[in-house]
Amino acid sequence: MAPIASTTTNGDSFASTRATAATNGSVTGAAVHATARRSPPGGLIQVDGSQTVYDEANGEIRSRFVDRGAEVTKTPEGKLNVKRTERVFEFKTDTKVGRVGLMLVGLGGNNGTTVVATVLANRHNIAWHTKEGLQQPNYIGSLVRASTLRLGTDPETGADVNVPFSDMLPMVHPNDLVVGGWDISALPLDKAMERAKVLEYDLQRQLVPYTKDIKPMPSIYYPDFIAANQEDRADNLIPGADKAKHLERIRQDIRDFKSKEGLDKVVVLWTANTERYADIIEGVNDTADNLLASINESHEEVSPSTIFAVASILEGVPFINGAPQNTFVPGAIELAERQKSFIGGDDFKSGQTKVKSVLTEFLVNAGIKPRAIASYNHLGNNDGKNLSSQRQFRSKEISKSSVVDDMVAANNLLYKPAAELTAETGVVHKQGEHPDHLVVIKYVPAVGDTKRAMDEYYSELGMGGRNAMFITNECEDSLLATPLIFDLTILAELLTRVSYREVPAEGDAGDFQPLYSVLSLLSFMLKAPLVKKGTEVVNSLNRQRNALDQFLKACLGLDHSTDLLLNTRLW
Ligand SMILES: NC(=O)c1ccc[n+]([C@@H]2O[C@H](COP(=O)([O-])OP(=O)(O)OC[C@H]3O[C@@H](n4cnc5c(N)ncnc54)[C@H](O)[C@@H]3O)[C@@H](O)[C@H]2O)c1
Repeated sequence: MAPIASTTTNGDSFASTRATAATNGSVTGAAVHATARRSPPGGLIQVDGSQTVYDEANGEIRSRFVDRGAEVTKTPEGKLNVKRTERVFEFKTDTKVGRVGLMLVGLGGNNGTTVVATVLANRHNIAWHTKEGLQQPNYIGSLVRASTLRLGTDPETGADVNVPFSDMLPMVHPNDLVVGGWDISALPLDKAMERAKVLEYDLQRQLVPYTKDIKPMPSIYYPDFIAANQEDRADNLIPGADKAKHLERIRQDIRDFKSKEGLDKVVVLWTANTERYADIIEGVNDTADNLLASINESHEEVSPSTIFAVASILEGVPFINGAPQNTFVPGAIELAERQKSFIGGDDFKSGQTKVKSVLTEFLVNAGIKPRAIASYNHLGNNDGKNLSSQRQFRSKEISKSSVVDDMVAANNLLYKPAAELTAETGVVHKQGEHPDHLVVIKYVPAVGDTKRAMDEYYSELGMGGRNAMFITNECEDSLLATPLIFDLTILAELLTRVSYREVPAEGDAGDFQPLYSVLSLLSFMLKAPLVKKGTEVVNSLNRQRNALDQFLKACLGLDHSTDLLLNTRLW
């Protein structure tokens, strides 16, 4: 029996259940919310000029882009020598989006059910009653669907022209995503949604006809990797302990889903429980071949999430890790590179960490020196329950810990680098000066999905002054994470359609090739961004956002408009 058949009624994913829309007493929303609107046929933007070619016959946009930078080297006298650099690239974007599937690992969890509900409510434009009045579905919180970017200026007025991010290039509309996936809990999605306690009753009620027959596919459960307190929900398991068979089963599930739903693309995304870290062991998971051999031997250090990652890599479908654990052991990254398959991670950046990266950047860029950042959280959902176990909490603690590192390292005036500390103290310092950084997470069932985050930012001001800022943040966890899941999926799929080649100063450019396997352009949505080995992690939210904006513009042959705004500075 094809596994996907067990996930739905009549062999359909919920994508195909819209025919029953009218029979459930639903409240159909009037106008479609702006964040759920579709782009005009043929797209909103047309770029003129020889840098950009619209090849309609082949369904491609080709662009030429000059990547300008500066190389900085130190002279023997300790001065800095700066040399301008230029590299010319051509980008090719396949404009055919096709039918896209999203397979969630953890489909029955708070995030999984909220993703399904959001797609269904938007697709059928189901509004629901709250004490505030009628609520319309929308994609607020999604960078792709609900933010705009500055395309240029109106020549007549000089005013900025901003466009929806989603109109820059052809991207899948989340309403069209065919969502399926796995969970170790067998609860059908109507009941799982009730268990999650995220969405209003009146919305849940209207969604039941669509969700009651969606049952997650059985999944892999190695109890040692998640908290022991999860055991009572693990009733939907792929049998046995043979990891090679598990890998094959997940690969088959992906293939079946793709063929059964007639999909052109699939993205697999881990939104299942946070696992403990896997030990990195030489000969076990340090290389691609060792990892594959370890799966064949059912080695105990291969986690369920790594099995899902390897299955996706081998099937050539992007895999995104939304949890903090080290799913991408070195062997998994090498395998992705070898297969030219796409991966992205780790850990959704939904609440506190997002605020922290922005606030720290503001302080450091304002010349103020944060000396301590102390973060306390409590939450009461199943994620919080799982994180109340020490080894799973440790994964989260690691993922949250490095979020300010690059901003601190960029300012040698406020924070002494390791060499200076070593010279000053005579003791070897491996790391430069850094603010104290504490993270505490506690489980308080009563508050459910509404997480409380309390942070203190303790900083040094001029002339020995001190400043303490206290931020209290109450956030509906899964309603923050769900739009990130859409963004990660939409952008990962888009990036599979972009290829590039470098144009040398002389001679022919080679063939177009896919982007590098580790999709660091997804960093905006991720707490501990995975980047190419040997390159620096950028945690600054502004820089992460700029990178995305610039990349989309490069694919259209446009230079990034800077904030120089020269026309406003000159006569
Ligand atoms: N704001 C956020 O919600 C947020 C932010 C960052 C990271 N995360 C991470 O996202 C993940 C999901 O969060 P959530 O609130 O939806 O948690 P959840 O506990 O409600 O959902 C997780 C689901 O995964 C299932 N599961 C566990 N192991 C599995 C396996 N091996 N295969 C398939 N399913 C499995 C569980 O049964 C559960 O239904 C967590 O790891 C969490 O740390 C969430």
